[in-house]
Amino acid sequence: MMKKIRASVPAKVILFGEHFVVYGKRALAAAINRRLVVEASSRERGGYHVKIASIPTFGLEMDLVTGEEKARPYKDYDAAANAIAYVRESIRYLEEKYGIGEGEGVEIEIKSEIPLSAGLGSSAATCVATIAALKAYFGVNGDLDVIREDANRVERRVQGAASPIDTAISTYGGYVLVKEGEVKRLHLAELNLIVGCIGSIPLSMGMATKKFSEMGLKTKKIVEQVKERKEVFKSIYDAIFDVSDAITAQAVTAIEESEFVKLGALMNINHGLLDAIGVVPRRLSELVKLSQELGALGAKVTGAGGLDEMGGVGSVVVLPGESGERLKGAMEIAGALVMDVETGGEGLKIEVGFD
Ligand code: PMV
Repeated sequence: MMKKIRASVPAKVILFGEHFVVYGKRALAAAINRRLVVEASSRERGGYHVKIASIPTFGLEMDLVTGEEKARPYKDYDAAANAIAYVRESIRYLEEKYGIGEGEGVEIEIKSEIPLSAGLGSSAATCVATIAALKAYFGVNGDLDVIREDANRVERRVQGAASPIDTAISTYGGYVLVKEGEVKRLHLAELNLIVGCIGSIPLSMGMATKKFSEMGLKTKKIVEQVKERKEVFKSIYDAIFDVSDAITAQAVTAIEESEFVKLGALMNINHGLLDAIGVVPRRLSELVKLSQELGALGAKVTGAGGLDEMGGVGSVVVLPGESGERLKGAMEIAGALVMDVETGGEGLKIEVGFD
């Protein structure tokens, strides 16, 4: 009988406070009902074999036999290699910290519904699910807080910096409020939202694949640019940042009290602040404007935002009100991949089975 571990985690949307959270201000994020699954099972040969079965539109297999790596790209090596960097680093980290995996034969398979580089937390989801699956596989303590911290460390090793939001959501699900680096889980009601992604795979393969290696560093680049501008316009930025903090606080109350018109208005103001700090490219701006024009209660960029010179790749989140269907059609015409999402879903789920 072969042991098989299945770890499943959710994607996320940042509802309020992205960027401002980097400077200690409040941010609110929620899990959404799009998931990533990592399966770990034994294989006869030693070493790891990693297969990305479905991160939208490409696949890749990689043999991580001790000291030797073999890659077999199906389509888009750059994109897949980027995704697999998180798996490889998770494996290295677990070997270093817990001494597990050395010489063992492990088959890892990833199946994902989360588009890449869209600000929906695919990197964090990959880290959390890989770490959780391998810990369960090797019988290491599966404490959720430790998994979250391990995953955040791995994310930071790969991409240089990473706030705790994404790994917290993938681990705990539901909602989290982050303030001054501290993560607090909140119990709030579900929201039905629309997410529109621009330029992510599979939408504009040409552009996305060409630029993909840079795209992995998109968040880092945008965060650096905000920092530079903040240094030039210090007092103005400080004021904007304080306003964002107040918006997030009021948004939590609005959700608690089911005041959706107010919640939408707060999203619109938050979007205005993101525009003011220069993280809204034309294509994401268009999606927000057209949502507002077609009657959405609120719309905003979610996550890092985007850069015009990187094709405006990124996502927006919309509180649709009564205007859902019309709005989705219009966003599609504007070139977005459109998803209905529900917030507040379940966090890390582990199943142990036998084949
Ligand atoms: O787009 P994402 O998922 O990489 O979100 C980045 C969120 C930022 O606040 C811009 C950065 C961070 O580390 O919190």
